[in-house]
Amino acid sequence: MQDAGFVRTAFAGIASRYVLANHVLSLGIDVWWRRLTARLVAEQQPRRILDLATGSGDLAQAIRQACPKVPILGADFSVPMMREAQHRNFHQLIAADGMELPFHDASFDVLTVAFGLRNMASWPGALNEMRRVLTAKGHLFVLDFSLPTLPLVRPAYLFYLKHVMPRIAGWITGQRASYEYLCNSVERFPSGRDMESLILSCGFNSVQTHRLNLGIASLYVASAG
Ligand SMILES: C[S@@+](CC[C@H](N)C(=O)[O-])C[C@H]1O[C@@H](n2cnc3c(N)ncnc32)[C@H](O)[C@@H]1O
Repeated sequence: MQDAGFVRTAFAGIASRYVLANHVLSLGIDVWWRRLTARLVAEQQPRRILDLATGSGDLAQAIRQACPKVPILGADFSVPMMREAQHRNFHQLIAADGMELPFHDASFDVLTVAFGLRNMASWPGALNEMRRVLTAKGHLFVLDFSLPTLPLVRPAYLFYLKHVMPRIAGWITGQRASYEYLCNSVERFPSGRDMESLILSCGFNSVQTHRLNLGIASLYVASAG
């Protein structure tokens, strides 16, 4: 759980260099993670998609390529981040807080959230809200960083997260403190079984975990019904 005011300010400060920093810090792997998510979304043959915490719209764009005929709406509480999405030619956007979504119950049959849930003020509160706006047979896709479980990989990754990533991101964005905060949040964020339990406790019926690249990221696919 995070301080919403800090998160808003942090993303406003890094917005213009967010995409570049992402690609450099992940050596471009983040593009593949979003493509995989988009492919799995397309398999559900959705009719209406919400991409929450859409930010620069990278996941929304990947989904639009995978399902070009399906309406997809991007929502975020940071207007500067959504301006980046507009610069990338994604315009189906709405300013909204994930903790209180401005949609009726059962409005979407797929909801995606990439690298966004971790930054929300209450993880169960946000997941309950996501469940509310999904249809009874809807699907939730949560893509986020996680911690590898392999003994040598885990400490090496934590070192990268805490000491290397904020420094490089600081050079690129000029906002090292923001990245220190965001990188540290990965250690506190539940992953694996803990995340599955959390999702199930918020009204979802089943959840499947895809561990990506030794578990440095995970994609959770949950069914509402
Ligand atoms: C790391 S960016 C992820 C952007 C994009 N989904 C991606 O895959 O690159 C996280 C985004 O979550 C948004 N965010 C954080 N908390 C939010 C909330 N409570 N409601 C809506 N958006 C939120 C931030 O403004 C930011 O744009």
